Amino acid sequence: LDNGLARTPPMGWLSWERYRCNIDCIKDPDNCISEKLYLDMADLLVKEGYKDVGYEYVNIDDCWASKERGPDGSLVPDPDRFPHGIKYLADIIHSKGLKLGIYGDFGTKTCGGYPGSKFYLQLDAQTFADWGVDMLKLDGCYTNTEDMAYGYPAMEFFLNKTGRPILYSCSWPAYISGTTDPDYAQIAKYCNIWRNYADIQDSWDSVKNIIEWFSQDKGGFTKIAGPGNFNDPDMLIVGDYSLSYDQQKAQMAIWSIMASPLFMSNNLRTISDNPKALLQNKAVIAINQDPLGIQGSKIDQIGKYIDVWTRPISPKGKSIAFVFLNLGTAGGPYEVTYKLSKLGAISPAGYNVTEVFNGNFIGMFKSQDYLNVTVDPSGVFFGVATFLG
Ligand code: GLA
Repeated sequence: LDNGLARTPPMGWLSWERYRCNIDCIKDPDNCISEKLYLDMADLLVKEGYKDVGYEYVNIDDCWASKERGPDGSLVPDPDRFPHGIKYLADIIHSKGLKLGIYGDFGTKTCGGYPGSKFYLQLDAQTFADWGVDMLKLDGCYTNTEDMAYGYPAMEFFLNKTGRPILYSCSWPAYISGTTDPDYAQIAKYCNIWRNYADIQDSWDSVKNIIEWFSQDKGGFTKIAGPGNFNDPDMLIVGDYSLSYDQQKAQMAIWSIMASPLFMSNNLRTISDNPKALLQNKAVIAINQDPLGIQGSKIDQIGKYIDVWTRPISPKGKSIAFVFLNLGTAGGPYEVTYKLSKLGAISPAGYNVTEVFNGNFIGMFKSQDYLNVTVDPSGVFFGVATFLG
């Protein structure tokens, strides 16, 4: 969507994967969906250095609203959990230099059963704008999928009409890709980012399943990505319960290569040092945020378990980020020997190759040379080849 937003993949924090529809603030005041949760996370984004490296959006997901609309038909936040309203939250978040995202649904109800925007698109767009919302994730529960082809564009029209820049995240393709190949070029006209596929869960199986689905590029969504438009494989679960250190590096590396939005869904109050450092790794983020906005893809497979991904980064035609992803889980590190030219590094002047996570210089290589690296089980080698010329 050409509205000046999401020129690079948006970054921030989103409550859904970790906090779900926990509305019991009596029993669980720190973790329920309430203004406290978002204010705490906004504080930590700033204090703990996340904002400095680019995480900017604080996003409310489902279950924030009252079950009934107000007398004038407008959405109302739950009065016990958001006693000061959403505008208050937006003002504080803006005062910290951050942005506020909210969640709605195109159908008659949200996936969690709260009021949906069907028949209220214009009113809801205006309400969000009046509150000072900066991003809308519009989900697609409780509607027939045929209505989405006019419904999602209609919401874009009404958001645009408010005059407030609102980054628009559509779940549209995720709801139709089970039955037909979405028209991604059309979706990209109306949405800044879009969920293509299933919800992420806190498990390596889920991360792996998403990576495998995206590697197939069914319907050709990879080439549609670019400034203003990004495919969204869903939240980062780095810093949550299930992933090993290697698996967390794998999620970071693939989300970076895929030019994916980086929305953490974790507890920034208790996160430990290793995942925090991964989430804040500047070299990894720089590749994710590369201004060309080209989405990388899986180009090859070595043996049964090693996938090879590449992404052209700036300077255009000269540098290539690449990942060897080990989907195997047996034994120790796997040795990969791979000709540089097969990564697309074909310039005769040669390349400097650097490991991304720790910045280690691996060496200077000609395009006919072979790179020799090891990749841990369910881990990655993440590298950049920079043209020397
Ligand atoms: C759907 C979305 C999730 C989340 C929930 C909320 O499943 O895909 O990301 O927003 O709804 O109910």
